[in-house]
Amino acid sequence: MSPVPSLRPDLVTLAGYHSPQVEVAVRLNTNESPFPPPESWREDIGAALERVEFNRYPDRQVTELRARLAESYGVDAGELFCANGSDEILQCLLLAYGGPGRRAVVFEPSYKLHSQIARVTGTEVVVVERAPDFTIDADVAAAVLKEAQPSIVFLCSPNNPTGRAEPDELVRRVVEAAPGLVIVDEAYGQFSPRSALHLRDDPGLDTTGLVVVRTFSKTWAMAAARLGYLIADPEVVAGCEAVVLPYHLSAPTQLEGILALKYRAEMEARVAVVAEERGRVAAALAALPVDTWPSDANFILFRPQGRGAKEVWQSLLDRGVLIRDCSGWDRLDGCLRVTIGTPKENDLFLRALEESLATGADRPG
Ligand SMILES: Cc1ncc(COP(=O)(O)O)c(C=O)c1O
Repeated sequence: MSPVPSLRPDLVTLAGYHSPQVEVAVRLNTNESPFPPPESWREDIGAALERVEFNRYPDRQVTELRARLAESYGVDAGELFCANGSDEILQCLLLAYGGPGRRAVVFEPSYKLHSQIARVTGTEVVVVERAPDFTIDADVAAAVLKEAQPSIVFLCSPNNPTGRAEPDELVRRVVEAAPGLVIVDEAYGQFSPRSALHLRDDPGLDTTGLVVVRTFSKTWAMAAARLGYLIADPEVVAGCEAVVLPYHLSAPTQLEGILALKYRAEMEARVAVVAEERGRVAAALAALPVDTWPSDANFILFRPQGRGAKEVWQSLLDRGVLIRDCSGWDRLDGCLRVTIGTPKENDLFLRALEESLATGADRPG
């Protein structure tokens, strides 16, 4: 019997990025859409699946989905690459442009998978601290990029878990200063008033290295489908195609994306409801003894005042509400993150939080 070899030594210290998947009435922990996709989309999928030749490999070039997506953004299909969730897009970018001897810059706190996938691919991670209000100082960023000369810079806009979209001016400064790719992760892009996409039309800015990454998981309410994409220079698309596995995107996934695009108006209606609810939840949190940060996404970061985050998290769970405990993450001491749910779920969350904060008020944090 041959033994299992030891894990690659550089992976041993990497803890995965997981949120507990517990059975609970109100699940507001992973920034999913609280609303399902339209029922007629499901029916379309059912009919389309009957025509799939399951004995054949899927379209390796993902031709139709890329063409439809390209049309919806007014770009060329050659500027689009699709994969199994935006996480796989990020992995492809790191496989193609990171690796041993290369660096990726991240602005922390941010989406943990950026630095995690970087490390898994052997890319050196250079961490830049955000300001105490979680903004990025453009001068600090420019100085670090000059010094570190990274192949890749990650921006996350809106930033998970802090919530704010990066100002245009900041993205512009980073693109100007970066010697390589600037990956703007816009997983929550449709919730936000800003996108880096329009910078591509700016004749005064060289955006050859600008990569915008988006997903169907959040605003399209299709987290189960695992579908993400990037929009970038065709050379970047070719780079991703060089590292991705053959036939990586299944025929059902491709169809799910193609058919979803018929329901853009429904997607936008869902986004509008969530954005309105975000305002309502933010206003309610402002009246409670918690610190909060402004959000352009479908979640809000907050910190109970004078109360332990773990205790509040557990007390919410005891009341049937699961949110994300970020208090163990670097730079997020005492913080919790709640995903915006349906109006009813948000009411249940707010009521549970009010009770939790009131019942334990005299206990030490
Ligand atoms: C900022 C950010 N990027 C990417 C992802 C991954 O999304 P996907 O489901 O498309 O892999 C997430 C998921 O939570 C995220 O928060």
